[in-house]
Amino acid sequence: MNIRIAIAAVALVVAVVGLRYYMSRGESEGTGKPLAQVTVPPLSGEAKEGEALFNANCAKCHGENAAGNEGAGPPLVHVIYQPGHHSDAAFYLAARNGAIAHHWSFGNMPPAEGVTDDDVTKILAYVRTLQRANGIN
Ligand code: HEC
Repeated sequence: MNIRIAIAAVALVVAVVGLRYYMSRGESEGTGKPLAQVTVPPLSGEAKEGEALFNANCAKCHGENAAGNEGAGPPLVHVIYQPGHHSDAAFYLAARNGAIAHHWSFGNMPPAEGVTDDDVTKILAYVRTLQRANGIN
């Protein structure tokens, strides 16, 4: 085989494998195992709407009932995310811009495409309701 073609073929394989690895970083589907014990209180109004938005946009990483997803993302029902440490502003910013990993080792959070500030307001009502029901104030 022509040596140049061989080198080009090897370079292509390395590039494809590298790109697949790069694209998959932080996008692990996780095991689905929750990382926190979450009691779900009755939900109504904005919190109920927030639950649907959360399930559609956040739950694949942050887990069902925001209890985390092993291998994919942290629980938001966790003291780290209590209002005194992660204010509501942190949620708007995370949805808009994503978040650089700094508390956990799941990788970065990508921006939440198509999620508006209005949606985040409802998601916040949901997450804060869950937090309060689990003693996180
Ligand atoms: C692709 C996975 C993924 C999705 C989808 C996702 N997140 Fe995250 N999010 C993460 C990870 C991982 C972290 C933890 C980063 C770290 O190590 O601190 C995080 C962190 C956060 C934080 C904390 C940010 C900070 O300032 O520390 C908030 C708030 C948050 N997510 C809210 C949301 C909301 C709301 C949604 C849905 C609109 C969402 N996330 C969707 C993976 C995700």
